[in-house]
Amino acid sequence: MNNDKNFQWGNLFKNWDRIKEKHLKDMFTESPNRFEKFSFSKDDLTLDFSKERIDEDILKNLIELAKSSDIEKARTAMFSGEHINNTENRAVMHVALRANAEDNYSIDGILTSTIVHDVLDSFLDFADNIRSGNIRNARGETFTDVINIGIGGSDLGPVMSVNALKAFSNNGPNLHFIANIDGNDFHDTTAMLDPARTLILIASKTFTTIETMTNAESAKQWLLSSLSQDELSLNMVALSTNLYATKEFGIKDDYVFGFWDWVGGRYSMCAAIGLPIALAIGARNFRDLLAGFRDMDIHFKEAPLNKNLPILLALIGIWRRNIMNATTLAIMPYDQRLNRFPAYVQQMDMESNGKSTTSDGNLVDMQTAPVIWGESGTNAQHSFFQLLHQGTDIVPVDFIISAKANHNLLGHHEKLISNFLAQSEALAFGKSKDTVINEMLEQGFNYSDALKLSPHRSFKGNRPSTSIIYEKMNPFSLGRLIALYEHKVFVQGVIWGINSFDQWGVELGKVAAVDIGKVIEGDGLISDLHVATQPLLRQIYKLQKK
Ligand code: F6P
Repeated sequence: MNNDKNFQWGNLFKNWDRIKEKHLKDMFTESPNRFEKFSFSKDDLTLDFSKERIDEDILKNLIELAKSSDIEKARTAMFSGEHINNTENRAVMHVALRANAEDNYSIDGILTSTIVHDVLDSFLDFADNIRSGNIRNARGETFTDVINIGIGGSDLGPVMSVNALKAFSNNGPNLHFIANIDGNDFHDTTAMLDPARTLILIASKTFTTIETMTNAESAKQWLLSSLSQDELSLNMVALSTNLYATKEFGIKDDYVFGFWDWVGGRYSMCAAIGLPIALAIGARNFRDLLAGFRDMDIHFKEAPLNKNLPILLALIGIWRRNIMNATTLAIMPYDQRLNRFPAYVQQMDMESNGKSTTSDGNLVDMQTAPVIWGESGTNAQHSFFQLLHQGTDIVPVDFIISAKANHNLLGHHEKLISNFLAQSEALAFGKSKDTVINEMLEQGFNYSDALKLSPHRSFKGNRPSTSIIYEKMNPFSLGRLIALYEHKVFVQGVIWGINSFDQWGVELGKVAAVDIGKVIEGDGLISDLHVATQPLLRQIYKLQKK
């Protein structure tokens, strides 16, 4: 760490010492215009940090930390196609997937726009032709259903977006998703479907992932229960970088939509991995989604640090994680159709920044990614919000809502908005024992009961949250929202000095599963396994009466 960066960290800790006993209630009393000071907008998108435990000096200090962490240099390196994924020697160019030709992005001296747009045009054409019925199965029938088989980044973006954009998915086939190697996922998803009229998308960057390849083999057998070997190929599509393996699997060349090693799995939904989204909402809407991503990319690339939404969101996260010591971050979309958004951000953030080694191979000297979790509101209020309001840990929350609904049901959206506003208010300001006692006396309780119950019914408050508001959920605003979080994750990775674009941490378990799998399939002895694993497998065999 350079001296200036150390100095900024030191200042942040001093600032925390200065304000840590201060209550948000008092901060708002002293400065009722905190919204004006601590909210930042781009068009209809607003991020409100006024209920974070910060003041103007802290925000300035955080921006100085960003400067001293060379965020601008790192951002330029990413946008100019440098191999910033140093452990895999790869560029990180998901921004090129949603760029216009005039953005002029290149990798190793080669412009990306032609290759990107060739594949984009062809998979969007394919999507619209499936939707319109121009592309059919070998019997001349249209496709009623599509199953995307993929996991992690080859599942979460599409499943989240198809759900989020249901209002834009008329006239398309029904979309289904199989991710888990647990056969129940395959079984339940295919149970009511007609194989002949179902298009199978096998989505895998590597085309080697055990879950996806196992499900893909089962899908082939399932299709063959209704189609002949000769008819099969018109029901199977591959989305992958591994063109050799897709051919081996028997996918027709023109049913393979490729992408590139400079697109990370968790950043791949704007590449061919997005085909299920295009099948659900059509090419025009998919292009709007890309435009939303690009809008945030350009803002991230060009806006000054102190007005740059992803950078500010990242810095608030650094404040919560490293200075306030918050171990988790709850993402709460007040939008039922965004109910998979927390899971999507979970992979994006935790697989990117869940690391304890710096890019240059040293141990990190601070905490990195928090545990990301969440659920849509208002459901979450009736399950775990108790802990958020009165638990012993402070859990920062990102609340997300659109001002306008995508439905005409009377009264629903108004109540959703009221709850959204009420939760951040309650977390921030709480309720004192005195207020509780007075309220109870007014309700007719006697003083001694009111006094006895007041500790249970009072709320300390001072719990931080950020509110994110935009006009309406549509393809553009979804793209913009996702890119906001993508760039936030990138900025935090730079501040922590880690490579956000590899995922070596998932390898160990994968290799162990292969070794154990061999024993289970009869190729090896139980006694070859780890002593901790042997008794568990024996217990399973006992229950299976093997
Ligand atoms: O195991 C983790 C991971 O490699 C993720 O990074 C990725 O999104 C997922 O598996 C699926 O990989 P693939 O698209 O190659 O099947």
